[in-house]
Amino acid sequence: MNILLIGSGGREHAFSYYLNKSKLCSHLYIMPGNAGTAECGANVSINPLHFDKVAEFCIEKNIELILVGPEEPLVKGMRNYFESNEEIKHIKFVGPDQAGAAMEGSKDWSKAFMSKYNVPTATYKTFTAENLQEGLAYVKQHSLPIVLKADGLAAGKGVLICQTHAEAEAELEQMISQSKFGDASKKVVVEAFLDGIELSVFVLCDGNSYKILPSAKDYKRIGEGDTGLNTGGMGAISPVPFADEQFMEKVESRIIKPTIEGLKQEGIKYVGFIFIGLMKVGDEPWVIEYNSRMGDPETEAVLPRIKTDIGELMLASAEGRLHEMQLEISNQTAATVMLVSAGYPGDYAKGKVMTGFDDVNKSLVFHAGTKINANNEVETNGGRVLAITSLADNIKEAVALSMKAAAKINYDGKYFRKDIGYEFI
Ligand code: AMP
Ligand code: GLY
Repeated sequence: MNILLIGSGGREHAFSYYLNKSKLCSHLYIMPGNAGTAECGANVSINPLHFDKVAEFCIEKNIELILVGPEEPLVKGMRNYFESNEEIKHIKFVGPDQAGAAMEGSKDWSKAFMSKYNVPTATYKTFTAENLQEGLAYVKQHSLPIVLKADGLAAGKGVLICQTHAEAEAELEQMISQSKFGDASKKVVVEAFLDGIELSVFVLCDGNSYKILPSAKDYKRIGEGDTGLNTGGMGAISPVPFADEQFMEKVESRIIKPTIEGLKQEGIKYVGFIFIGLMKVGDEPWVIEYNSRMGDPETEAVLPRIKTDIGELMLASAEGRLHEMQLEISNQTAATVMLVSAGYPGDYAKGKVMTGFDDVNKSLVFHAGTKINANNEVETNGGRVLAITSLADNIKEAVALSMKAAAKINYDGKYFRKDIGYEFI
């Protein structure tokens, strides 16, 4: 089977690593990929958002399965494009259509969906320029802190947690009237703050049935002890110690089942991943958000624990045969640490030559923001540069292995958090 994987981050290197090992895989292409994915298949320098170019490529290479890593192509209707085009509609496709991707693409839509299907989530109201005055009045009497969310995609920056009423009013005004996040904040969801501990749950769907993948916990802040600015994710562990059987039963009965049922009722045939961002408040799970893809760096911690052939799993999802699949999960713990560029998540330099890869032998090294330069060296090409994952019998050992490996990689401006998994060690 010829497979096309869309994306270029650590998540995609992890997917390409396991797809390349799949017994179903003949040729693997990654569009556009990075220096790591180039070792698992052929990188293709086409912008995935140019659907017509992607389609041409698929016909030329006889692509039989497409897996979409990031949300943007899905929110922009990549699946719809493929389904409505005679020459390519036969290609198996993992990733929801535009209606399904609204789970992530519109916070207002997903909040309304959760209310309609009784999925536990923070109380909220949505405001636009038309009812901004009402919004300001709503914010004024709201309990603190107040969470403001841009409705649309805002590159992970569209959520503000305001500690005072004055701050929330000013931010709401800026988001709506001054387009703080462009068109994404024309509509703003104002919601109550959930005080608890976060985790991520992943569900693979085939339009009818589903499989729950291993849980993970992401470390979002740049600084140790969860301090400083929010990032795309500085590390992850899987499984999550407190996501025990009892808790996961609540997640499945109160959140996953009504979500899947709700999608069916809405007439959405959801094929692909649902990433559910949860807050455990007391012993109860609440939904913070849905994403229509896998998490990054969570994927780098979750996939190494899945023993089932990833290619078979993706094909079964695309063909509506997940009920036939047996998921086999490793009992080991995975710990992923993200190596980033100095300055990230603010401004940072690119093009720093990287060395030390050959010295890492007990961990998996997934490239995120890297590329091969003109001298055939690996150089940095993004804020998040490498995700290093180690498997061991417990969190402490897995983290220690990843820390050792992280110390062996060298480049100018290397930074990583040394406290991944700290609450559990
Ligand atoms: P997002 O960009 O949607 O992933 O949100 C960023 C982060 O904001 C989440 O990972 C949470 O840590 C936090 N967050 C979002 N909504 C809430 C909420 N209602 N209560 C508490 N924290 C929240
Ligand atoms: N690690 C969080 C995300 O992928 O959105």
